[in-house]
Amino acid sequence: MFGFYEDFYARVAHSSVHAEFCERVFGRNLCQHGFADMEQIHKLIEVLQLSSGQRVLDVGCGNGMIAEYIADTTGAHVTGLDNIPQAVDEALERTLPKADRLSFAVGDINALSLPDHEYDAIVSIDSIYFSDDYARTIRQWVDALKPGGRIGILYAHGREPWVPKDQFHVETLAPDHTPLAEALHANRLSYRTWDFTDDDYRLALLRKQVLAELRPRFEAEDLMFIYDNRMGDAHGVSQAVEEGMHARYLYEVQAPG
Ligand SMILES: C[S@@+](CC[C@H](N)C(=O)[O-])C[C@H]1O[C@@H](n2cnc3c(N)ncnc32)[C@H](O)[C@@H]1O
Repeated sequence: MFGFYEDFYARVAHSSVHAEFCERVFGRNLCQHGFADMEQIHKLIEVLQLSSGQRVLDVGCGNGMIAEYIADTTGAHVTGLDNIPQAVDEALERTLPKADRLSFAVGDINALSLPDHEYDAIVSIDSIYFSDDYARTIRQWVDALKPGGRIGILYAHGREPWVPKDQFHVETLAPDHTPLAEALHANRLSYRTWDFTDDDYRLALLRKQVLAELRPRFEAEDLMFIYDNRMGDAHGVSQAVEEGMHARYLYEVQAPG
């Protein structure tokens, strides 16, 4: 996926069709490549009780537009981390006038070197999938939190199109049995969940509709690789939900006090 994300972030910042796609599907153009609309982002902000003066880490921040939105709306200082240097450079350049409350760095979720007890909150919006070892990543995030800090993870789990139906374990869809929940249990962490599966389905159908309408403009901007990627995701999610093989949750994880 590294090559895809390099191309994606190199092109989306200047794309009018992708901006319109994000506005119509997610409610605002934050250059999303995850699946969170503004309702999910606002729920994340509310659940984590993000507020002025706090220090927040956004893992898998892309070009930082969601981090910037969180900093703008809450007054928190947000640090964004992503492994695509060009996306991080773009975030730094765009937010230079806001450098007192936004910072960005290149970092790999599988080679994290985070300061101990630094953050009040860590957010991960559709980025934990890139961890090779969820339990280790969660442990590293907890170590980077101040005592009593919180982690907010927007996360989907379901059958991928290439997995045969009889090989997908539907019992792993329950919020206490997903691979992420298993990683939280391994770290003896307590957590709360909110179910966004219906919302995920609605958004997948909307993505398909909006993409179909905007297809000529994706073609005109030579962005069919993004169109195909997003249409593939939307088909995969909508089909898996219809088969009862997909779920999406917000997890709020509390670090020990
Ligand atoms: C699905 S996108 C989500 C982006 C953003 N959080 C959003 O919701 O739009 C996943 C993000 O994780 C980043 N990513 C992928 N692999 C990574 C890794 N090994 N370390 C850090 N970030 C990674 C990608 O560059 C991308 O920005």
